[in-house]
Formats: sequence, C-alpha cells, structure tokens
Amino acid sequence: MRIFFIGDIVGRIGRKAVKEILPDLQKKHGFDFVIANGENAAGGFGLTKLVAQELYSYGINCLTMGNHTWDNKDILNIIDEYAIVRPLNYNLGSPGSGWRIFAINNKKLAVVNFIGQVFMDNNSPFDKYEQEIANIKKESDLIVIDFHAEATGEKLAFAHYVTADVSCVVGTHTHIQTADEKIIEQQTAYITDLGMTGAVDSILGMSKTSVIERFRYQIPQRFKVARGLYQLEGLLVDINDTTGKAESVLRIHQTSLK
Ligand SMILES: [Fe+2]
Ligand SMILES: [Fe+2]
Repeated sequence: MRIFFIGDIVGRIGRKAVKEILPDLQKKHGFDFVIANGENAAGGFGLTKLVAQELYSYGINCLTMGNHTWDNKDILNIIDEYAIVRPLNYNLGSPGSGWRIFAINNKKLAVVNFIGQVFMDNNSPFDKYEQEIANIKKESDLIVIDFHAEATGEKLAFAHYVTADVSCVVGTHTHIQTADEKIIEQQTAYITDLGMTGAVDSILGMSKTSVIERFRYQIPQRFKVARGLYQLEGLLVDINDTTGKAESVLRIHQTSLK
C-alpha cells in the first residue's frame, strides 16, 4: 500500500495548502491512505471539530497530534469518535487513543503516535512501546508511527529500536523537513522530520515579527499564523502488504505557484 504522510499543518494557510496541493499529488501518486499531523491545524494551536472535518474533506484519513494536542479544548468533543491519534505515552486515562486501526486493501493498518522526552516533559516512549506493542500487533497487519519529538538522535534511536515490528517511522514537530529519508535495515521507512505545511515566508509557519520579538526580548507573546505563499511537505511510503517491509520512500516539498 502507498501511504502519504503530511508534516504539521499550520493554521488556515496550511489547510489551504492541503486543499490546493493534495489533489494533484493524489492524481500523480495515487495514495491509498493519507496521514497528517494536525496539532497546529486550528489557528496554529490544536485542533477543532470544524478544522478536523475540513481536513478530512480534503482527503486526509487520519490526524496525528503532539505537544499541542490539548491547546484547543474543542478536541475533547471529537477525540474519541474521529480518526485522531494522540501520543500513546500520555498518562493513563488521558482522553483519546494513542493508536487506531484502519482497514486498507483488506489489511489492518495501525497508526500510532508517540511523543519524545528530550526538551519535552513526557513519559518514556520506549517504555510505552514495550507495554503496548504486543496488543497493537495482535490487532493489526502493518504498523506506522508518527514520532513527535525535538531531537534528531531521539527520533533515529526510536526508529532503530522498533524496526523489527514497524513499517514506517516519520518524525514530526520541528516543522523543518530533513533530507534523510531512507529505509532502515531494508524494512522500516524513515525520515527525521516531515516538515511543515503552511506559509513559506514564516518562522515554522508563524508570523516572523512575533517570533523574532520573542527571541529578541524574551517577552512571551502569542504567535500568529503567517500568510502568503504556501507549501506542503511530507513523505510518500510504499509498504509491501504481505511482508510489511517498506519498499520505497519519496520526500515531497511542494510550494504554491503564486
Ligand atoms: Fe507542530
Ligand atoms: Fe509539536
């Protein structure tokens, strides 16, 4: 099966990028399933019911999350019933689900989300993986993971740790696409970061002035989503349905023409 992973969608312009660019990519590459990180999709912070519905209407099948999962409380109204996967290594009893199963080509695909610990205060993704992987394998034929983390080394270490059981690990969170897409041990598709879907002329999708001022004066202020030209970034992955091994990866960086 062919899966397309889209990097963090930032705000209205990020949603516009999906609306305008995804259909052409779909025509060209013919994906079976589209997974996007939606933690910044609503005004740059979190996810709402309307925004999730909008993104599904553009052809996204599943939304993964990250450190901004709870920024917009509206997510609590939809997290149990919608195709949303939040980090699995949150505390026990947290709302929502850390993995979900989707039926594609008569196969059961498990989409799992983890969040890292470096520069972030979270439970160990490695411990949680050990606790849950047997359950996930019991319910699924293929497993893909969005590992939402800051540090390149942590993402790569996790990907190598799970290679035996997982078809694909994509990194998210930094909003900067890395050029290290590969297939680890001829088995697991990998990229350290998918990148960002949103405004080109921005700092990580946000308006430049607010971010520069925050670094310059260290006065906390709410970032605004930038506007203008837009981009969509992600990774296309082919997985052999029978063996579960990743067979090819193609990094996507597409900008609006005007
Ligand atoms: Fe993000
Ligand atoms: Fe993040």
